[in-house]
Amino acid sequence: MRILNRLLIQSTFRYHYRTNTVKAQKKSNTFNLEYDPIKQTIIYPPELLINNKNYPTDSWTNVNPHILSRLGQNLHRQKNHPLYHLTNRIRQYFYQQKDPRKQSPKFSIIDNLSPIVTVQQNFDSICTPNDHVSRTKSMNYYINKDTLFRAHTSAHQVDLIRSGLNAFLCIGDVYRRDSIDPTHYPIFHQCEGVQLFNKEELFMENRNVRGEKDNLQIFASNEYRDATKQEGHTLEAVKLVEASLKQTITDLFKTLFPNAATLNSRWIDATFPFTHPSWEYEIEIDGKWYELLGCGIIEQSVLENSGLGKDYIGWAFGLGLERIAMIMYGIPDIRLFWSTDSGFLSQFQFEDSTRPVQYKPVSAYPQCINDLSMWMNKTRIDPLDLYDLVRSIGGDLIEQVLLIDEFYHEKKDKHSQTYRIIYRSMDRTLTKNEINMIHKDIENHCQKQFDVEIR
Ligand code: DAH
Repeated sequence: MRILNRLLIQSTFRYHYRTNTVKAQKKSNTFNLEYDPIKQTIIYPPELLINNKNYPTDSWTNVNPHILSRLGQNLHRQKNHPLYHLTNRIRQYFYQQKDPRKQSPKFSIIDNLSPIVTVQQNFDSICTPNDHVSRTKSMNYYINKDTLFRAHTSAHQVDLIRSGLNAFLCIGDVYRRDSIDPTHYPIFHQCEGVQLFNKEELFMENRNVRGEKDNLQIFASNEYRDATKQEGHTLEAVKLVEASLKQTITDLFKTLFPNAATLNSRWIDATFPFTHPSWEYEIEIDGKWYELLGCGIIEQSVLENSGLGKDYIGWAFGLGLERIAMIMYGIPDIRLFWSTDSGFLSQFQFEDSTRPVQYKPVSAYPQCINDLSMWMNKTRIDPLDLYDLVRSIGGDLIEQVLLIDEFYHEKKDKHSQTYRIIYRSMDRTLTKNEINMIHKDIENHCQKQFDVEIR
């Protein structure tokens, strides 16, 4: 089986190389990479056919065939995948929490929403300011100016609340342009959590000494915003929601890491457009701190966008699944989640998702390092554009790309950049010849896309 897989990988790669274009595996969801040498941009067809729907392209379009080829894989729903086991464990934890009135699970779990969303969903609905850096082309994969691959599962918060849900998880693949190294990949998976409370639910437990309900309120007029709360919220409401959020998260991680009796964790103050106050949650493993999620008290204007007006207050969190799975199973490289190699997948072939497993490397195949130095004839290359191009050509054979040198040469009036590209396959030894061919291909595409001279 492994040998067969290897042969398949090699032969598809050779096919790609010979045609000198990068193609995704499926018939739709693909296009050839061609460059406009004058404008120095990728030439997109007037429309992209993605999941049987046509999307017009425009100056915002920056998706690439590598990203399109990953669409619909839904690793979190692939039976016996590590992300499937992890989401099962998160599911089990939340399903145990019952709605006291109905004795049914409090949280609904939604894991099948399309990752193609509107700018309205991804940013506007959750109050991301128009000039916020998270909207930029260099951080996202846009299909066109109105449509993109969701950058986070928060994109669905408002729609799900509007559909009537008061407590839910939303799990799915998210897409971001980022650096290339063993912990970053342009696609990863997130789990969003939201819980809302009306006055009765929030203060249910609170009775005064005579057993009467205290007249506690969620909202107060003429209130101010400061580090602890939003304007319009009472401090007592915020403190109860904060306690519920932090309890939910610490208990979740105690369940996910049951033998870490000494699981050290900490809350760091943070800022997000859609929550205030906000925090990040970190845990300590072997002396290293890992940031696992962002969370906070939902901005009241997000709830207003959801049509809930003034009755509810709530918390939200968003956690990265790969991060947690890498720690939980000892998976050293984020590309492994995409491996179809049976040496990897067979280690997760079991029914009981709570089974403690430590990943054993199939084998450490050698790295192959090639540098790429170039003079830029015009402007400096944005490293994120280069990372995208390298990943588009080299696919998952690229382990890491580092910008190792950059300077401006006054006499020549040119910028120079040198990138170190580290190649390594997850399941076979690459030959020098094969790497040289890919590297040459990357150089050629760089010349075409960025108008550079290779040094
Ligand atoms: N959407 C944030 C991200 O991807 C994570 C996040 C932070 C989600 C705070 C939330 C939240 O729901 O309340 O970086």
